[in-house]
Amino acid sequence: MEYILSPSMLSCNFLQAGEDLKKIDKAGAQWVHIDVMDGVFVPNISMGIPLVEAFRKGTERFLDVHLMIIQPEKYIERFIKAGADLVTFHLEATNQPQECIDMIHRLGRKAGISIKPGTTVEEVLPYLDSVEMVLVMTVEPGFGGQSYIEYCTDKVRKLRSIITARGVDVDIQVDGGIGKDNVAKVIEAGANIFVAGSSVFKGDVEANVAALMEQFPE
Ligand code: DX5
Ligand code: ZN
Repeated sequence: MEYILSPSMLSCNFLQAGEDLKKIDKAGAQWVHIDVMDGVFVPNISMGIPLVEAFRKGTERFLDVHLMIIQPEKYIERFIKAGADLVTFHLEATNQPQECIDMIHRLGRKAGISIKPGTTVEEVLPYLDSVEMVLVMTVEPGFGGQSYIEYCTDKVRKLRSIITARGVDVDIQVDGGIGKDNVAKVIEAGANIFVAGSSVFKGDVEANVAALMEQFPE
């Protein structure tokens, strides 16, 4: 299994986002996580299509776009045209999840489906045969810098055991409150893609990336 760090640009210094992109790249983080919030699905507003376009020009790394917006089907194509390599939408945000997945695939990109802390693992199982990644949120979506919700570890563990039993190739991403002191526990539970915002951008970015990635299994 491949272990990947996806620093969340929500916690970067927006006045020097290009420099921050270079720093995480140099430090060896493989992906770049971009949080899109609409003020409706979550009580916050963050970045949109023009910033994805700008980040696309600022890095060669894989762009991991996390849509926290209602009716993602209306915007998926525009985020892909802006440069997303993978688009994750929330199961709770649409009544046509399969159509969203199919749309992302038709446009030649990878599809992720996300569940909030209160959504059960069972609800995402119908889509395991068609997505590349499930994002198990480990905080309530909407803000960086929150504390990891402990019961989410068991959701990761359960999902990994079902994925293994089914023999499908699906990555498990975790997002929210991930840092050097809890990443090992979430690895052990079965996650393999780690979003980290404040624990990467607070302080020395290169040292923070190293402290997280040195805990990844060989
Ligand atoms: C929260 C976002 C996260 C956020 C994580 O809704 O999805 O990606 O940036 O920030 P930290 O790592 O600080 O919890
Ligand atoms: Zn996110």
